[in-house]
Amino acid sequence: MTFHVITLFPGIIRGALQDSILKKAQDKGLIQVQVYNLRDFAQGKHRVTDDYSYGGGEGMVLKPEPLFKAVRYIFQQTSEKPKVIYLTPEGVPLSQHLARDLVENNTSLILICGRYEGIDERVRLSLVDQEISIGDYVLTGGELAALVVIDVTARLIPGVVGKEESVKHDSFYSRWLDYPHYTRPSEFQGMKVPEVLLSGDHKKIEQWRKEQALRRTLERRPDLLKDEG
Ligand code: 6GU
Repeated sequence: MTFHVITLFPGIIRGALQDSILKKAQDKGLIQVQVYNLRDFAQGKHRVTDDYSYGGGEGMVLKPEPLFKAVRYIFQQTSEKPKVIYLTPEGVPLSQHLARDLVENNTSLILICGRYEGIDERVRLSLVDQEISIGDYVLTGGELAALVVIDVTARLIPGVVGKEESVKHDSFYSRWLDYPHYTRPSEFQGMKVPEVLLSGDHKKIEQWRKEQALRRTLERRPDLLKDEG
């Protein structure tokens, strides 16, 4: 899967991708991330990417021309048309379900990161296929949101995460929160690992984990259980 990221701050994107699992996924060729500096598509000596908002008010708006140019440039480089996503708090909330949908239906995505007050509405009207938000709070820009989208989708691609199993058992995969995990030592600062986990009885362990997951979900996120059929 290929992610084309359009941003005024390529360093934020590149920095987050040079370690750990997303780095390995790139080395293995399972994902490709191409970063485009919006400024490179801007005109004139000063390569201006933003301007005042028509009608007045605080804050600057990203101009349409550089965004159109950047997207057109990416279209020209790719054989199939990538889906164009704009990261904004006004978008549809990102969920595990949406991430799965993105992986299953796309081989490449263009992720537009906004800054300032947003982007010219005409970009949204004629260029953007989908708007995504990563939660009900406001970030300084779309870069961290783009990284979240890359992370949640990439780890659903077979081979990115070590064991398929660990993805399947994840929190939210089954709509339940995860059960507690323990590793050695079996006693730490007086706290013991639950006996059942040391028993070797896999049926009992499975049962215990299910109970724990359900209890935790009921306590912390009962909303997750509401629309389960
Ligand atoms: Cl996608 N962008 C910004 N700037 N803020 C956000 C967001 C996105 N999602 C939640 N807050």
